[in-house]
Amino acid sequence: KEGEEGSLHLTEAAARFDQSLSGKLSELLKISGPALKKGKSRVFYGIHEDFPCVAIVGLGKNNAGVCGAENWDTSKENIRQAVSAGCRLLQDLEVKHVEVDACSDAQSAAEGAVLGLFQYDQLKAKKKTKVSAQLHGSADTALWEKGVLYAEGQNLARLLMEAPGNHITPTTFANIIEEKLAPHVERVTVKKRSQAWIEEQHMGAFLSVSKGSDEPPVFLELHYSGAPDSTQAPLLLVGKGITFDSGGISLKPSPSMDAMRADMGGAATVCASVVTAAALKLPINIIGLAPLCENMPSGKATKPGDVVTAKNGKTIQVDNTDAEGRLILADALCYGHIFNPAAIVNVATLTGAMDVALGSAATGVFTNSDWLWQQLHRASVVTGDRVWRMPLFKHYTTQVTDSQLADLNNIGKYSRSGGACTAAAFLREFVTAPHWAHLDIAGVMSNKDEIPYLRKGMSGRPTRTLVEFAAGLAHSDTLIGCNTLGVASQD
Ligand code: BES
Ligand code: ZN
Ligand code: ZN
Repeated sequence: KEGEEGSLHLTEAAARFDQSLSGKLSELLKISGPALKKGKSRVFYGIHEDFPCVAIVGLGKNNAGVCGAENWDTSKENIRQAVSAGCRLLQDLEVKHVEVDACSDAQSAAEGAVLGLFQYDQLKAKKKTKVSAQLHGSADTALWEKGVLYAEGQNLARLLMEAPGNHITPTTFANIIEEKLAPHVERVTVKKRSQAWIEEQHMGAFLSVSKGSDEPPVFLELHYSGAPDSTQAPLLLVGKGITFDSGGISLKPSPSMDAMRADMGGAATVCASVVTAAALKLPINIIGLAPLCENMPSGKATKPGDVVTAKNGKTIQVDNTDAEGRLILADALCYGHIFNPAAIVNVATLTGAMDVALGSAATGVFTNSDWLWQQLHRASVVTGDRVWRMPLFKHYTTQVTDSQLADLNNIGKYSRSGGACTAAAFLREFVTAPHWAHLDIAGVMSNKDEIPYLRKGMSGRPTRTLVEFAAGLAHSDTLIGCNTLGVASQD
């Protein structure tokens, strides 16, 4: 750990380790080069009989804490980054077991280890060494385990997003989630709704997207009952589950089209959050909904200019079949209201415009509720997987309600301008609940090297923020004793 410029500060565990070696570690650190800057590392071999390889990583400034400008807890981020770097160094040495220094925050250390070690290589002959990371010492085991569950939740979302579209279809997606929830049967029910059910529900917008594909759609419905009062109003999570987005008849260009296998990132992060909430036994009721289908061109596909009718009776002119996420979410949001949720949060890789606006720094949040915004923002400061508030002005609504043939148009009339905002305004037309947030995760869908503790690939963001948000609701008294929250903040 780096203290003041150049001086050496060891973490508690490292200092104890150093002591047990009569100062050999600090000695070696001094003679092996300049003081370790944040993220820089050294590996020592053969210095301790129980630990053949020891990785030491610079943690950066001591007690950096929450940074108002960065909107995250810098200490936690530094720990995730350093632990991840150390674990990867040892993984490259083909070490099978790693003991990790808690760095005075065992949860962040566990997250750094488990997120940092993850690699999707199921389909390759040559695989990375499977490393089991454990906490060094016996203090803080509960926090360590909590961090492991948060990170494993994100890794589940990464796996689902990264896996190719021919492996993750609506059906296999639903089966995997059902399997992951199997250990929690006493508190969880899984409903895999078929095309016939979707038709009975009059989800015309959802069906208009799936009809171009030979792969049957699935409407996945998860119920987690963790609240002591089983009648307590649930948190409703809704995720966009396009298992492949070709664009449909408004076909996308070929370069990078493969990335659209991750267009179920909303469904992946939402379902992974429900799995994690169940594993953590959070005292809250959660309903997770995921409309799952492919968006494909074919002789049966929806054509530009077609008009479809959503579950709530509103008609939609589909001028661009590539703006399909809002169509499937429209029906899922209408349906979700029957559960009388305390809050609705939908998550979607909705618009390329969101990536243009914020890049991969933060998830864009469009919400009609200041309370919900505060809850989400607080959670994201803790996890470092940040959110940033975006506008839901009437200005944008008028751009989607102006349609030649129908009540709504699925693209804004100034098509490219404010694309993330017009998409959000469109979704709002299907929400009557006072506490709703739409999270556009298109910008944070994949990682090159921006988040140092995530390898290149689909990111699984912002699963940990969703879990921390649900945990925050569960442990606050806002939800207890009331069936619905607050008063409508909509006009
Ligand atoms: N899934 C895409 C959005 C997307 C793009 C996610 C890049 C992640 C990375 C979405 O279905 C889409 O194609 N949106 C269109 C909307 C447009 C036609 C109004 C877009 O953003 O171009
Ligand atoms: Zn699309
Ligand atoms: Zn899409």
